[in-house]
Amino acid sequence: MAFLPAEVIKSKRNGKELSPEEIETFIAGYSQGHIPDYQMSALLMAIFFKGMSPTETLSLTRAMLHSGEVIDFSFVPGFKVDKHSTGGVGDKTSLILGPIVAAAGVPVPMISGRGLGHTGGTLDKLESIPGFNTQLDLKTFKDFIAKNKICFIGQTKEICPADKKIYALRDVTATVESLPLICASIMSKKLAEGIDGLVLDVKCGSGAFMKTPDDAEKLAQQLMDIAKGYGKKVIALITNMDQPLGRFAGNSLEIEECLEIMSGKTHLSPAGHDLYLDTRELSLWLSAHMLHMAGRTPSAQAGYDLAANILASGQALKKFEELCCIHGGNLSALPRPKHKLSALAETSGFIQNMNTESIGVAGILIRAGRAQTTDLIEPTAGIEFHAKIGDPIRSGDPIFTLFGDHPELLQAARPLLSSAVNISLQKPKTPSLIFKTLE
Ligand code: URA
Repeated sequence: MAFLPAEVIKSKRNGKELSPEEIETFIAGYSQGHIPDYQMSALLMAIFFKGMSPTETLSLTRAMLHSGEVIDFSFVPGFKVDKHSTGGVGDKTSLILGPIVAAAGVPVPMISGRGLGHTGGTLDKLESIPGFNTQLDLKTFKDFIAKNKICFIGQTKEICPADKKIYALRDVTATVESLPLICASIMSKKLAEGIDGLVLDVKCGSGAFMKTPDDAEKLAQQLMDIAKGYGKKVIALITNMDQPLGRFAGNSLEIEECLEIMSGKTHLSPAGHDLYLDTRELSLWLSAHMLHMAGRTPSAQAGYDLAANILASGQALKKFEELCCIHGGNLSALPRPKHKLSALAETSGFIQNMNTESIGVAGILIRAGRAQTTDLIEPTAGIEFHAKIGDPIRSGDPIFTLFGDHPELLQAARPLLSSAVNISLQKPKTPSLIFKTLE
């Protein structure tokens, strides 16, 4: 019988379980251009509302994985390991942990994504470095992993083309926060990389796709089940995304933060809080688990100590500079924003909580992220955070500073930022950075 995409959409809309053949044919048709965006968008929305069974999620992952090549890295000696985050605001750890782990001699092949919904993407951050090319072909990717132990690329025509198209479509059709869609997107990319092990950073909180610990753990478990089903070693850290990570969110500003951290710098807030602390600690712990999983250290604690040494000795920075060089990026030409505008505290007290998703949406308004698939990102657009949850703040002090090249966009986004933070007289508990580790 002829394959009718609308019948598959109708089945999912009505809550039926799709067969592996229906999923495979739909995904193949879409990635080859026979099924249009509007039908894929409708299916994504149906999946968003009706969910998928574990069997359907596995079929979707497999279909997306086999829309392209699966890399064979057996010619590179050693355990190949990667990390993947489920997405957050100011989440830049890949740019620090990749160089740390590669500097320790462990190959890190990374297939990353662009900004998704209100969250940032590693590729957009790297592309804010003038000349940095993330669109390398497969042969070049393999050569760099063999020689330099590190390389970052995106989904391409060859690797996970289905995720490349679906990811961009989900970004602008409000279909991101779906457990099966997140699972298939992440795992298809990670399984295509030819890795032996994976460390997952599953974000939880107001700036994550999973807002509650229960949902985050459910996502972590499903991601781990798929990885184990494919014979990969896997571990998941459930981490805090109730506030942005680090000092900046925004592409070139996040590169700047990483360079400062890899140069051993700190940046104290007016309250005396090192605004780089959370980025640095999370990068070190994720590196620690990668190094331990790869057999480079006997324990995660020893992995942490090794990672901290590599960071402090400047080897991570050297590796990052080498990474920029092989990708054609010119770090010394990192652009600077032309304008800035601060959002001031309206009352005195302590930062109680933040609506971190709204902060991410403010980032889209100033063009640090995309509202439509065809939108161009402005590399210098971003937000600086002057205070973290629990910090004291006085009326009139800056809480955020917006950066970018268009002052009118900064003005337009400021009210959203101001309303994203709650200040109260009671000092809240300092939030944990890592909630749980699932092995
Ligand atoms: N990261 C991805 O690669 N895909 C998602 O869907 C979410 C986070």
